[in-house]
Amino acid sequence: MKAIGVNGSPRKKWNTATLLERALEGAGSQGAKTELVHLYDLDYKGCISCFACKKKTGRSYGKCAVRDGLTPPLRKVTQADVIILGSPIYFGTVTGEMRSFLERLFFPLFTYAEPRGSLFSRKAKTAFIYTLGATRELAKERGFDKHISATERLMQMIFGASETLCTYDTYQFEDYSKVYAPCFDPEHKAKVRAEVFPSDCRKAFELGARLAGEMKAMRMSAP
Ligand SMILES: Cc1cc2nc3c(=O)[nH]c(=O)nc-3n(C[C@H](O)[C@H](O)[C@H](O)COP(=O)(O)O)c2cc1C
Repeated sequence: MKAIGVNGSPRKKWNTATLLERALEGAGSQGAKTELVHLYDLDYKGCISCFACKKKTGRSYGKCAVRDGLTPPLRKVTQADVIILGSPIYFGTVTGEMRSFLERLFFPLFTYAEPRGSLFSRKAKTAFIYTLGATRELAKERGFDKHISATERLMQMIFGASETLCTYDTYQFEDYSKVYAPCFDPEHKAKVRAEVFPSDCRKAFELGARLAGEMKAMRMSAP
């Protein structure tokens, strides 16, 4: 069983990457072989609308035909049993790199049928972990939750199942005293990092363990 994490943050050791690492540790605790891909290490673009993935008799039907830095990770993601994506929220949505990755992942698998369908024929458990500088209340007030639930619905439609974990009020800067950001209270941020973030990390571990555990059970009960 394979579990893959995809980090849409440019930072490899901060909030999003840490939660993804915990989630993969959880999957690993159930026997999954794990891998974390950092999107910012790769050279690629979003969907270029070539439609090779939609040509009925084409070699690339249902697959992205573009060849670039995203080609190997896209193949690994579509072959994984547990897929855990992670991104910070940047101006109300995922980072640009994560957005481009999602276009390339979703579009080939998505069918323009009525109702919309999916070409993903395997069983996989999926989740999306978001990290936000905003509090839960502010995120809702600003409508960030709408983007998050729309992506969850799309992932459920494409992969059959998906869950979401959000971490709010994250610790963003290494040293708050060195940046101009008067809307943040550094003491409050440090308190959230010390008291809330560890429990979010536990939730990420449990999420990874649960998804991998469910896949393991499905495999064992398969005829
Ligand atoms: C360019 C940029 C835009 C951001 N926009 C938002 C935003 O719209 N809403 C929000 O809650 N946080 C926003 N943040 C904060 C990040 O989402 C938050 O600090 C996140 O935890 C960073 O993830 P990382 O530590 O994995 O890099 C933004 C940060 C950056 C750098």
